[in-house]
Amino acid sequence: MKIGIDKLSFFTSDLYLPMADLANARNEDPNKYLIGIGQSKQAVIRNSQDTVTLAANAAMKIVDDEERAKIDLVLFGTESGVDNSKSAAIYLQSLLKINSAASGVELKQACFGLTAGIQLAMGYIALHPDRRVLLVGSDIARYGINTLGEKTQGGGAVAMIMSANPRILEIGTQSTHLTRDIMDFWRPLNRDEALVDGQYSSEEFIQFFKETFNLYLESQDETINDFDALIFHLPYTKMGLKALRAVLENVDNLSVKERLLDKFEDSRRLNREVGNLYTGSLYLSLISLLTAGTLKDGANIGLFSYGSGAEGEFFTGKVVAGYEKMINKNSVKFLENRQAVSVSEYERIYRSFLKPQTDDAKTDFKNDPAPFVFKGQENQKRIYDQNNENRN
Ligand code: COA
Repeated sequence: MKIGIDKLSFFTSDLYLPMADLANARNEDPNKYLIGIGQSKQAVIRNSQDTVTLAANAAMKIVDDEERAKIDLVLFGTESGVDNSKSAAIYLQSLLKINSAASGVELKQACFGLTAGIQLAMGYIALHPDRRVLLVGSDIARYGINTLGEKTQGGGAVAMIMSANPRILEIGTQSTHLTRDIMDFWRPLNRDEALVDGQYSSEEFIQFFKETFNLYLESQDETINDFDALIFHLPYTKMGLKALRAVLENVDNLSVKERLLDKFEDSRRLNREVGNLYTGSLYLSLISLLTAGTLKDGANIGLFSYGSGAEGEFFTGKVVAGYEKMINKNSVKFLENRQAVSVSEYERIYRSFLKPQTDDAKTDFKNDPAPFVFKGQENQKRIYDQNNENRN
């Protein structure tokens, strides 16, 4: 049975910060951010968005009434969730009015959460071929103003529906996996900003990729020539390029090198414009590649997922003929209509995020054009709203 991604969508803020402006404000050469880090813009997430609303705004693009009835599992990958107990999947299920017979859970392993969901969904659909699974990867990447990680912030959500006989990407049943207990990036319970040993994390990322990729090639008796594209989790887009270069070093065939480097450029196009999505990053890269319009039907894509702490997985997907009908340039056109903000406005918005607190509080939701917003909290319960209903 063929199982994979049938629908795919993406959402992020209507605001962004030009990376050259951030570099100038931090007395750095803009080329360090634009080339050295590989980022042109960074999404500036409003305080009226959280991982639940970002996910709802992404998923509403692919969930219609037919889906509402057929989805019976909601898998929510995040590492910046809103509650230590209640799953974000239940909020999402409620906001999207998905039938109440569906079950939902939140999955956490740093940026790996959505990939873990994909593997669970594969098994679920194999047992229930007529059912559909909604998956999201939704996060806000916050490292702090004037920190080393500031230039690798961002946020947004990728949503997908997985099913039998998928119309976008058929996922391979074989994958290779590696887990090691390391401290490269983490976020203790008392913090809303990540702690990271960035150089160490980059080295481990490359090592995890090389090990899982080589293991995959050996176990499947394949070579790098068998791939039309290799795509990566992209905390910043230079990270993927470094990992790709690490395996291209040993490749003599120039046309293979050229093809994989060209496709990598296609696959980092949107990530470069948005920044880090954590759980959604690899899948935004997939959307970048698919919407570039350069893939042939049946193209074989290798995907590397990495979640600090750390877990890595290499798996594959075959592009389904006619995928352009399901996802194309129009799906991401909204990115062109975003508004740039100044560094001081970004800093104001960043500082305005609600901290964990007991008092009632409101966000600046009235200014937020997104369909779903987080209005604030009452009696320590989060209040969500859709489509400008009661926005006062
Ligand atoms: N023009 C072009 N490139 C330049 C440059 C210039 N003027 N100045 C510096 N660079 C390059 C550097 O050579 C380096 O490239 P390399 O990585 O290929 O060697 C790159 O820019 C970054 O410079 P560096 O000095 O390493 O940056 P930094 O110390 O400010 O930190 C990160 C960069 C990515 C390590 C840091 O932002 C970070 O930790 N981010 C978080 C990453 C993360 O979340 N990891 C965990 C999840 S996987």
